Amino acid sequence: GKSYSMIGYGVNKGIVPISCEEIFTRIDGNTSPEERFEVLISMVEIYNETVQDLFVPQAQRSAKGLDIRESKTLGVFVDGVVKLAVDSYESIEKAIDMGSGNRQVGATAMNATSSRSHVVITIEFKQVRKNTAMGESVIVSNINLVDLAGSEKSTQTGATGDTLKEGNAINKSLSALGNVISKLADKATGKCSAKEPVPYRDSKLTRLLQNALGGSSKTVMVCAISPASTNYEETLSTLRYADRAKKIKNTAVVNENPMEKLLREMKEENEKLRQMLEGRGGAAPVPEQAAQEAEQLEKVQLLRKAMQENDVDFSERLFGGPAPG
Ligand SMILES: Nc1ncnc2c1ncn2[C@@H]1O[C@H](COP(=O)(O)OP(=O)(O)OP(=O)(O)O)[C@@H](O)[C@H]1O
Ligand SMILES: [Mg+2]
Repeated sequence: GKSYSMIGYGVNKGIVPISCEEIFTRIDGNTSPEERFEVLISMVEIYNETVQDLFVPQAQRSAKGLDIRESKTLGVFVDGVVKLAVDSYESIEKAIDMGSGNRQVGATAMNATSSRSHVVITIEFKQVRKNTAMGESVIVSNINLVDLAGSEKSTQTGATGDTLKEGNAINKSLSALGNVISKLADKATGKCSAKEPVPYRDSKLTRLLQNALGGSSKTVMVCAISPASTNYEETLSTLRYADRAKKIKNTAVVNENPMEKLLREMKEENEKLRQMLEGRGGAAPVPEQAAQEAEQLEKVQLLRKAMQENDVDFSERLFGGPAPG
C-alpha cells in the first residue's frame, strides 16, 4: 500500500495530491498584498541506481541519468532537473499525471502494478514577502514526497531476469536507507559518537534525501504492512525500520533569507570558486588539481544557472497556462 498511500489510485487520493491541494488552498486563502508565492515542482525516479527526470520522455533521457550535486548555498540537488512552475492544483495534478505516465512499473507475482523505482516529487515553495526594512525576503521550503519501490523478496515476487536485477537495485538502496536511519538513530540515542559519518553516499536515494533524513527538516515516514501471515518476516522488518526511524531527532529551522543576501551569498561563493580556479596563474594543472578544478568549474556553472533562473519572472515560467479564474 505504499503507492496507494502516497499517490493514490483513481478517486482515492493519496498524500501527494492531498498535500498539493492544501498548499494552493492556503495560498488562495492569503489576502496579504505584501506576500506572493511561487511553487515549482520536479519529479524524478531512481531506477537501477540512476536518477531520471520523469518530466522528460524516456526517449529523450540519457542512459547515465542525472547527477546529484551539492553546493553550500544550493544544498543537495539534482543537476539539470526540470522544475515546472505551477500556480494551481490543476496544473500540479497535470504535471504529476505526466510524470507518473513515464514511470517504470512492472507486474510481480505480489502486485500487478508494482513500483520498480523510487519516485521523489519535490515541491519548492517560495514565500516572497515585501518588507520595507530589508527589501524582499524569501523563505524557501522544499517538500519531498517519496514513493519507495517494493522491498519484497525475489523468491516471493517470482522475479527473474530484468525484474530480478531491478529487485537487487531496489534492495540495495533500501538497505542503504536502513543503514542511514540506523546510524542517525544511534547518534540520537548516544549509541555512537555524534561525529561519526553517516553513509548518505551509499545510494542515490539516501544522497538525495540527505537533508530530509538528518538535516533541518520535518520528516514523516509511513509504513505499509501486510496483514497476511505469509508476510510475517517483511512486516516485522518494516516495523523494526520504523522503530529505528522514530529515534531520529531532527531540528527544523526556517530558511528565511533576504533575497539580496541569498543572491549575494551565491555571488560570493561563485567569485571564491572562480578565484581559486585562476589562482594557479596559467601554470599547467597537476593531475589531482585538474579533477578538483573541473569540479569547481562545474559548481561555478551551477551557481550561474541558479542565478539566471532567479532572473526569469515566475509568471513567464508557468506550466499548463494560468489557472482558470
Ligand atoms: N488501504 C488500501 N485500501 C484498499 N486497497 C489498497 C490499500 N492499500 C493498497 N491497496 C491496493 O493494493 C494493491 C497494492 O498496493 P500498492 O500498489 O500501493 O502497493 P506498493 O506498496 O506500492 O507495492 P510495490 O512495492 O510493489 O510498489 C493496489 O491494487 C492497491 O489499490
Ligand atoms: Mg508502489
